[in-house]
Amino acid sequence: MNYNKKTVRDVDVKGKKVLCRCDFNVPQDKATGAITDDQRIVAALPTLRYLLEQGAAVIACSHLGKPKGEWKQSLSLAPVAQRLGQLLGQEVIFAQDIVGEDAQGKAAGLQPGQIMLLENLRFDPGEEKNDPAFAKALASLADIYVSDAFGTVHRAHASTAGVAAYLPAVSGFLIQKELEIMGGAIAHPKRPLVAILGGAKVSSKIGVIHNLLDVADTILIGGGMAYTFAKALGGSVGTSLLEEDRLDYCREMVDKAKAKGVEFLLPVDTLCAAQFSADAQPELVDAMAIPDGRMGMDIGPKTIARFTQAVQGAGTVIWNGPMGVFEFPAFAEGTRALARALAESEAITIVGGGDSAAAVAQLGYADRMTHISTGGGASLEFLEGKELPGVACLLDK
Ligand code: 3PG
Repeated sequence: MNYNKKTVRDVDVKGKKVLCRCDFNVPQDKATGAITDDQRIVAALPTLRYLLEQGAAVIACSHLGKPKGEWKQSLSLAPVAQRLGQLLGQEVIFAQDIVGEDAQGKAAGLQPGQIMLLENLRFDPGEEKNDPAFAKALASLADIYVSDAFGTVHRAHASTAGVAAYLPAVSGFLIQKELEIMGGAIAHPKRPLVAILGGAKVSSKIGVIHNLLDVADTILIGGGMAYTFAKALGGSVGTSLLEEDRLDYCREMVDKAKAKGVEFLLPVDTLCAAQFSADAQPELVDAMAIPDGRMGMDIGPKTIARFTQAVQGAGTVIWNGPMGVFEFPAFAEGTRALARALAESEAITIVGGGDSAAAVAQLGYADRMTHISTGGGASLEFLEGKELPGVACLLDK
């Protein structure tokens, strides 16, 4: 896939209306609706500021949550407009609809240097269906389309891909940065390239493991998916997370790693517990011999030492997925130790979005990583080597 795409610097935006797709899908407090983490809004600022400084009139848009084509007041982007205004230090005009009268009127009157935000794109069923009529209506608000929503580039929706059929389409700085850093780490990594994969399921990382086996020097497997590997290699895993239908796949990956000369490290010890709860009593056991009635919850100290050693010798580290149930303090040490190892290493360190980004932030190491991706599903699909519709639709350089 070609990642060399035109950016906002390659088009003249002065005096133009620019539709800028952002990923403002921010976490909110369930009870109050307050934004609990504004990282994604902050990440969009460089592009928005640049467009405004260049004299564009900016029509920002995003989805929030999964309203599935229905109007849900709790998923309104109004709080995002307010927060964005505070961060930009200027008024963000908020449209009460997406392509309706209010949006059209406000877009028509928008002056260079002004910014407005449309209501949640997913309130319209046309968004996720990539309905051409909806894409065309969005496009009719503007002269140029800028995509800066890295978190949604894996979605072929009207605002992430369809709209590019009707307007000149370029990327913003965030997408450019994500593609450069992650693309660079895969295409010409500083070696050795160590990939750390964790998280609950083998099935969600199948494509990633497969793709990384072609480029990585070392792959470390932790988290819930390690138990399916342990079982596949003849271990016993008690009541741990297990995907019976992936056992063959796990064996295949271990064989493929051997054939390719990729070091493939699985946990050697495991912290397990009788039940999945924060106050469960941790028990340290051999990773291949988790007793009946016990479930794996974190990697053990020997594994931490071995994985840390691999990180210390790395030129590049790509990390996606926690090593254990890091939300429970008694089972957070594996994830914390790895985050610390990355923070202290000289390597280029890249953390995939979603849970791993949350873990690194929660553990206080966020500012010591080279790059934390703003994409969860998007960075996974990127690491899988898949074509990303939100990138493919942009103009080539
Ligand atoms: C994300 O949060 O990963 C992106 O905003 C995409 O959201 P989605 O999974 O609802 O498409």
